Amino acid sequence: MGPPGAGKGTQAKRLSEKYAMRHLSSGDILRAERAAGSALGRELARYMDAGALVPDETIVKVMVKALTGGSDGQGILLDGFPRTVPQAQALDAQLAQAGKPLDAVAVIDASRDEIVARITGRRSCPRCGRAYHVTFLRPRRDDLCDDCGQALTRRSDDTEAVVRQRLEAYDRQTEPVIAYYRRRPGLKVLDIDGSAAPDEVTRRLQRAFDALVHQG
Ligand code: AP5
Repeated sequence: MGPPGAGKGTQAKRLSEKYAMRHLSSGDILRAERAAGSALGRELARYMDAGALVPDETIVKVMVKALTGGSDGQGILLDGFPRTVPQAQALDAQLAQAGKPLDAVAVIDASRDEIVARITGRRSCPRCGRAYHVTFLRPRRDDLCDDCGQALTRRSDDTEAVVRQRLEAYDRQTEPVIAYYRRRPGLKVLDIDGSAAPDEVTRRLQRAFDALVHQG
């Protein structure tokens, strides 16, 4: 979890590869639906481009379908879901039904100035979703994804005005989810300072994950 631009996608991609987990990014799943040009995709675009969350009922349906399809590897790393308390409750119900525990919640944070600088300079691979930054995380070849060679694109919601709306949605709707998890006995909430360089944030997360694994 974490505000827009905290580094959730960048870090989830790295960690899911390292720990052989399935990375499920709600944002990537919604963008794929938009790219498919379906009626649902057109409806999603209205919310996403305004920096608002899509309705709980819609996202829960989409994420339950993603959670139950495909093999889990050594677990699932959720990125961007849940983002409201009703979504967290729907996830609890789904995990209870599947007999799978929620092991930990990682919260990555960074300052608001840093977030705006990161979002406005982000470039993403339309094929694999890998994120780059024009200054902080440049691809090896200008404007091409290191992994797929695809031309990098800019997300339609990555403007300063829209990121301010996304931050407002985060404070109002997603912060309470973190409080919801902090109140749960026995659930580890890992607070990660995401303001350092990407490799250092990865090291911090790995240390926290490894400690979890060792504690069983
Ligand atoms: P989503 O795609 O999840 O966007 P977000 O939460 O706003 O997060 P971002 O993807 O912008 O940031 P990130 O934390 O992943 O950062 P990243 O690693 O890319 O959601 C988009 C929209 O979909 C929402 O607004 C909503 O409409 C809808 N939606 C999604 N989930 C939903 C849900 N559950 N319920 C309802 N609606 C939902 O990094 C950002 C940039 O910074 C990159 O350029 C990167 O290269 C750079 N960077 C990363 N780490 C560092 C670092 N340590 N130092 C310097 N630069 C860095």
